[in-house]
Amino acid sequence: MSNRVRTAVFPAGGQGTRFLPATKVIPKEMLALVDKPIIQYGVEEAIASGIEHIIFVTGRGKGAMEDHFDISYELDATLEKKGKHELLALSRSVSSLARISYVRQKEPLGLGHAVLCAKELVGNEPFAVILPDDVIDAEVPCLKQMIGVFNERGGSVLATQTVEGPGISAYGVLAGAQDAVNPRIYNCTGMVEKPKFEAAPSKQAIIGRYVLTPRVFELLEQTTPGAGGEIQLTDGILALLREEKVFGYTFEGRRFDAGDKFGMLQATVEFALKRPEFADKFRAFLKGLEL
Ligand code: UTP
Repeated sequence: MSNRVRTAVFPAGGQGTRFLPATKVIPKEMLALVDKPIIQYGVEEAIASGIEHIIFVTGRGKGAMEDHFDISYELDATLEKKGKHELLALSRSVSSLARISYVRQKEPLGLGHAVLCAKELVGNEPFAVILPDDVIDAEVPCLKQMIGVFNERGGSVLATQTVEGPGISAYGVLAGAQDAVNPRIYNCTGMVEKPKFEAAPSKQAIIGRYVLTPRVFELLEQTTPGAGGEIQLTDGILALLREEKVFGYTFEGRRFDAGDKFGMLQATVEFALKRPEFADKFRAFLKGLEL
């Protein structure tokens, strides 16, 4: 068994109801943030973190994702004929980003079930999970930071962000004590899904990045579906916690929930302001708004 984190699983079998009507036909992972589908940000983060193999867990109506990361002969031929070399390079670069495998989740039976669908493709080694909705802007890619913690501590790692106030109730919240050596690390003792503000065990909200040991697959297989027949990843991790060390890690960077309309608007403004080709123009436009 390799102990290197080489594979990243991207669960993309959900229905994206929060973004209707845009997601009636188009998978939410393909919605553009400035000029790239949100899933491409996650793929680029994975590659920049040393990931060699990407597994997309897809479902009905997600074909556009496969086409996006494939070669488009018709588009490339048209761009070549028209001499649009820069655009051609851009189109080609997407298809050569990574080694990608696809596995189908036949029914959206929960995030835990989606991860379990990747079991055979991952094999018996540690792996990452990236929820493509969570787009993270960080100097050192978030997943790279987490793999660093995994390599150093030898246990599964859950990314967290500090949420002050009642907003914490929207998340899975980590229980556990802050590490004495590294204050970004928490020694996880439990997790509570969407607790009331008063009952939240900490301010550490779990977000969509995980580094997990393969034992979680067996534990997910033994997990009985909860409400709505769904298998939750949280339940698998809670079971893992009884056998192995699990760490929370407050990553350095900013996370946007691009699967939500408001989060996507925030991300669009922030990412647009970072683009040298139109940052100045966009800043001037924003300043000119009567707010
Ligand atoms: P979400 O609950 O955020 O995604 O799941 P959703 O169900 O697509 O969106 P809404 O809430 O209806 O708008 C988190 C992640 O888990 C994946 C989703 O694709 C998303 O990346 N997921 C969820 C699956 O792959 N399969 C599932 O059965 C459920």
